[in-house]
Amino acid sequence: MNRLRRWIAALIGYHRQPVYPSIYWMVGSAWLCQAVYVAAKLDVAEKLRHGPMAIAALAAACGVREVPLLQVLRALAGFGIFTIDQADRVSLNNEGRRLLADDRYSVRPWALLSGEQLWPAAGQMLEQLRTGRTGFDVAHGAPVWQHYASCPADGDVFDTFMSAATDLHVAAVTAAYPFDRHRRVVDIGAGRGSLLRAMLRTGPDLRGTWYDRAEVLPSARDQFAVAGMESRCEFVAGSFLDSVPAGADLYTIKHVLHDWPDEAAEHILRNIVAAMDGASTLLIIEALLDERSGVDGLVKLRDIEQMFWTGGRVRSRREFNRLLEPAGLVIEEVLPTPIVDMSVIRVRRRR
Ligand SMILES: C[S@@+](CC[C@H](N)C(=O)[O-])C[C@H]1O[C@@H](n2cnc3c(N)ncnc32)[C@H](O)[C@@H]1O
Repeated sequence: MNRLRRWIAALIGYHRQPVYPSIYWMVGSAWLCQAVYVAAKLDVAEKLRHGPMAIAALAAACGVREVPLLQVLRALAGFGIFTIDQADRVSLNNEGRRLLADDRYSVRPWALLSGEQLWPAAGQMLEQLRTGRTGFDVAHGAPVWQHYASCPADGDVFDTFMSAATDLHVAAVTAAYPFDRHRRVVDIGAGRGSLLRAMLRTGPDLRGTWYDRAEVLPSARDQFAVAGMESRCEFVAGSFLDSVPAGADLYTIKHVLHDWPDEAAEHILRNIVAAMDGASTLLIIEALLDERSGVDGLVKLRDIEQMFWTGGRVRSRREFNRLLEPAGLVIEEVLPTPIVDMSVIRVRRRR
């Protein structure tokens, strides 16, 4: 009987162990990111939208060499992205469809950002550990926001990725928190405004302030105009490193604090506190990292991505407390969402 119990316990324990890919797989699959990028950049999925194509015709349509294109697509097909038959005809499948620009769950903006901007930055990870300069800065010659200000094309790739990702996240945020109980919300580092528009849609009386860098303002304003929501929002360009607009009963900051190292993040929080009155609420919307070893691998990957990209970090609850306390803030509640790198952290000023 005891042996049976031990056997059942071992079986349950076994199933509770996280399953990791092998270290061989991790090293050997590094090229997949570039292969997906190449397919995204060449718009292979778009070219296959109306039916399969022979590899020679596809290569001609993409303006690239046939043999290496076959090699790249064959590798992707080996992992379920596109299919290739014995006659080297390539077809779109469900996974390949994610590389269409207009797919609801399109990965294309992310693949372009990763392949063009993050891949070279990740290649400088060791240099960052040695010198403290972010991988992005080493690879692109300037820290991220400075680079986007001087290279609008790269800034546009980032903003397109960010608003596509936020479009997918917003339903989870608006389901997690009752925004319609507020009268004015300032969204800090609002990007193209996808979250702000979703919050405004939850209540006809809610008004918004969009706050971000001046470079992002025209494209954000366009998005509000397309949605017919310009009149419900004021647009303020500025730096949250200097100040944050006052007068709201709700402040939201989504996927921004993780862009910054502790000292700068604390500085931003102090600027938010200066704008808040005693009754206002702050929602920090981003991942909470589980510090235990051996769990939460995807969030920990996001953490190193933030490190080499922006010099920031994904924080645990303990690390957030350490940041919030000197700024005079306390966590009231953490509302989880189904999105792996997103919780809604409700914060208020310490009384
Ligand atoms: C990771 S994005 C998040 C955008 C948006 N909150 C979202 O989740 O879609 C970070 C945002 O911070 C903005 N940002 C960076 N530095 C800033 C600064 N000093 N002042 C205001 N906004 C800034 C960027 O332009 C960008 O839109």
